Amino acid sequence: MKILLLLLAAAGLCWGQYNPNTVPKRTSIVHLFEWRWQDIAEECERYLAPNGFGGVQVSPPNENIVITNPNRPWWERYQPISYKICTRSGNEEQFKDMVKRCNNVGVRIYVDAVVNHMCGAAGGSGTHSTCGSYFNTGTEDFPAVPYSGWDFNDGKCHTGSGEIENYGDIYQVRDCRLSSLLDLALEKDYVRSTIAEYMNRLIDIGVAGFRIDAAKHMWPGDIKAFLDKLHNLNTQWFSEGTKPFIYQEVIDLGTEPIKGSEYFGNGRVTEFKYGAKLGTVLRKWDGEKMAYLKNWGEGWGFMPSDRALVFVDNHDNQRGHGAGGASILTFWDARLYKMAVGFMLAHPYGFTRVMSSFRWPRYFQNGKDVNDWYGPPSNADGSTKAVTINADTTCGNDWVCEHRWRQIRNMVIFRNVVDGEPFSNWWDNGSNQVAFGRGNKGFIIFNNDNWNMSVDVQTGLPAGTYCDVISGQKENNKCTGKQVVVSGDGKANFQINTDAEDPFIAIHVDAKL
Ligand SMILES: *[C@@H]1O[C@H](CO)[C@@H](O)[C@H](O)[C@H]1NC(C)=O
Ligand SMILES: *[C@@H]1O[C@H](CO)[C@@H](O)[C@H](O)[C@H]1NC(C)=O
Repeated sequence: MKILLLLLAAAGLCWGQYNPNTVPKRTSIVHLFEWRWQDIAEECERYLAPNGFGGVQVSPPNENIVITNPNRPWWERYQPISYKICTRSGNEEQFKDMVKRCNNVGVRIYVDAVVNHMCGAAGGSGTHSTCGSYFNTGTEDFPAVPYSGWDFNDGKCHTGSGEIENYGDIYQVRDCRLSSLLDLALEKDYVRSTIAEYMNRLIDIGVAGFRIDAAKHMWPGDIKAFLDKLHNLNTQWFSEGTKPFIYQEVIDLGTEPIKGSEYFGNGRVTEFKYGAKLGTVLRKWDGEKMAYLKNWGEGWGFMPSDRALVFVDNHDNQRGHGAGGASILTFWDARLYKMAVGFMLAHPYGFTRVMSSFRWPRYFQNGKDVNDWYGPPSNADGSTKAVTINADTTCGNDWVCEHRWRQIRNMVIFRNVVDGEPFSNWWDNGSNQVAFGRGNKGFIIFNNDNWNMSVDVQTGLPAGTYCDVISGQKENNKCTGKQVVVSGDGKANFQINTDAEDPFIAIHVDAKL
């Protein structure tokens, strides 16, 4: 039996909670931040499936508090009131329809599970929640779950304020309130079972896994306790015995006692060092240069690749929340951002998540964005605006849709084409001109220096003419952008001027003429 299990594990069949459960050769997911379920269903069918996206991380689907001061901030969705599927993104019927339609075209749904806490202590009492459920933060009463005062950690927290006051104290971080959010007592079996019941309802509907929000603020053993109660995935779309994919939000930049590695037993962990460092390198801060990316990954002190969930930016740190600081690249710095996402998608390290944002009226005062709270594009009644699609395939209504940018979408496809191929043929000029390949399937080259580049480098690819998938792509057996000729010895000449719209070029075997 033991030998059989080892064999199954070796064959990758027992990868369990580390496996994203995407269909084969779909290697990235996209976070459609604050999108409505009906728009996601459409996007799965009309765009994500045809372009090889593996899945979607959706915003929290459970009922949350309605905050009117400021007016409907995005972070109200991180303040649960109940586990009814009922938010600005849609109701339970719409959620089920989305999961079904996305799964039917091979695009998976991952739920952002907010289970560390309920709403903030200042929430008050009433029915100002997205489904109208009553709650009272004074008595810690959430009858729609139900939770009562017994189900919270107040007795366990030993700071004067009841808040986390010191991130150097692992007990405070797990047992006290994070930004006043009422902290659930996850050591109680009732709380664990209630959370598992909510997650099991989602699993039975057909979701493929979960992002565990604020995982650093829960004990790894408490997370394990509710994960152990989870069902296997719905056999309508997944094979018998498939476990949900788990990735835990643990912000570990290496400066606090709590380490991401404490959570590896439960599933993957968000590698926040990834975007912070990549932003620093591309901005050339702290003396960094792209040549140093030669040993990117574990060589930079990151967690093991098969435990990492990686991203250039997320919904928190793209607006100065969460972690990472000013180095984080976002759609606001589009040119460097595309290079960063291109690098991430070409590089074999980690499981990759692409961000898809909405625009907000960013406004800095004393170095801080005073509008960092802005919720999604919405109508006067507070309802979220539809994602409209323009004739040129970009999105309207202030949805940024980075995942539809040609350079990013084509690199999602690149990653699928080179899946499983080794990191190879690294080249650099000792500065900010670098290149690498993925076996004999794909090759990418960057010029982030301030001078023009023209080099002959080994690509590892078969001889032929390839379409650059950054400046264009292959269409009707022609290149809509630049062309690259690889000669019989695998070498090719690449010219990238510093004033290029995008100073990088990527080619792969599916874009060969
Ligand atoms: C690469 O950078 C070095 C400086 O480190 C520079 O002298 C050289 O010309 C660059 N090489 C190319 C091919 O541009
Ligand atoms: C790079 O090439 C462009 C286009 O040929 C030219 O206009 C520009 O002056 C060159 N830049 C440098 C720094 O040599």
